[in-house]
Formats: sequence, structure tokens, C-alpha cells
Amino acid sequence: MAKIFVETERLILRELVPEDAERMFLLDGNPEVMRFLGRNTVTKVEESSEIIEKIRKQYRENGIGRWAVVEKSSNLLIGWSGLKFLTEEINGFKNVYELGYRFLPESWGKGYASESAGASLNYGFNILDVEVIYASATIDNDGSNHVLRKLGFTEKGTFIDPLDHEECFWYELRKEDFQR
Ligand SMILES: CC(C)(COP(=O)(O)OP(=O)(O)OC[C@H]1O[C@@H](n2cnc3c(N)ncnc32)[C@H](O)[C@@H]1OP(=O)(O)O)[C@@H](O)C(=O)NCCC(=O)NCCS
Repeated sequence: MAKIFVETERLILRELVPEDAERMFLLDGNPEVMRFLGRNTVTKVEESSEIIEKIRKQYRENGIGRWAVVEKSSNLLIGWSGLKFLTEEINGFKNVYELGYRFLPESWGKGYASESAGASLNYGFNILDVEVIYASATIDNDGSNHVLRKLGFTEKGTFIDPLDHEECFWYELRKEDFQR
């Protein structure tokens, strides 16, 4: 049984497991999903298996990594969401917690990014007892920027993503400013 970290009204946030490869491939193989992400779309299910293994290694080494998001009504994996401990520098930041999320297009516009991200932030601030959580989004990614601002993140300037050389907003949210 995959370990469940958090349950919300409509979602289960659990560990990613090797059996998620096919659904993860639907996600990372979809150019619409990857539009603002500065990475090539995945072309083989084996690459998704490798990504899952990498994330499972992060669970072991860092105690956290992105979680699978399962929609309760369909019992399907619809994306991933949650915290990552950054061990590689981004915008001059390293060894800090960062929030991220990614969903299949048929699940967009239902509030799932906000619902899963809110639960992930709550876990970070109140279970892991983290003082500050960071996030970033390409400046044209209206959806993600809207989600982050609504969650209470404050924009702290821009930087250039080294992967795709696109300009991104950098965000910060401190524990005392997080409202649950
Ligand atoms: C960005 C993404 C995560 C948003 O997920 P979502 O579940 O549709 O977001 P929510 O339903 O929680 O939306 C929250 C708010 O953002 C708004 N929003 C969502 N997508 C939007 C868009 N493309 N343009 C403008 N506003 C948008 C919603 O209307 C909602 O606003 P409201 O609460 O004020 O009514 C989703 O589109 C996605 O997975 N995109 C591809 C991957 C990606 O870009 N990830 C983020 C990388 S930084």
C-alpha cells in the first residue's frame, strides 16, 4: 500500500510508486502540460519510471518529494503536487523547500492546484516545521502565478530559468503569513 501523507476533501496526496508510470507518462508526455516548464516532453514510459525513482530517492534522502495527487471521485492519478527540498541551486537558493504542481489538462480549472498546494503548505509549515517555502513560475504562466498569489506567496523579483532561459517570478511564503 502506498503511503498517504494528506487527504483533502476531494484528493489523496500519497507517495509516488512505480505503478504510477503510465499516468505520469500521460502527464509528462503532454506538450500542453509542459508548455511553461522548460523541459522537453517525455517520449517513453521508461523516462517516467526513472522520474518516479528519482523522486522516491528524494523521499529517502530528504524526507520529502513531490506527491502523487489522486482524485477521490475517479480514483485516478491526475497529477503531482507538493514540496521538494532543493539540493541544486535555483536563483541562488539551495537547501530550501520549494512548492510545485502539475496536472492533466482535463483536471484544470477545478481548484485542484489550490487544494493540493494548500495541503502541502500546511504539511510543510506545521508538520515539517519549515519557516519559509519558495516557488517559481514562468512570468507568462498566468494559471500558476494566480495560484501562488492566491495562496499568499509574495513575489520577490525575477530570474532566468537556466533550462529554457525564460524569465520567471520567484516567490516566498513565510510560516507566519500562511493562513489555513
Ligand atoms: C497551472 C495549473 C497547475 C493550475 O491548476 P488548476 O487546478 O487549474 O488551478 P486552480 O483550479 O486551483 O485555479 C486557481 C485559480 O487560478 C486561476 N487559473 C487557473 N488557470 C488559469 C489560467 N490559465 N489563466 C488564468 N487564471 C487561471 C483559476 O481561475 C483560479 O482562480 P480563482 O480561484 O480566483 O477563481 C495547471 O494549469 C497545470 O497543471 N498546468 C501545467 C503545468 C504547470 O504549468 N505547472 C506549474 C509550473 S510553475
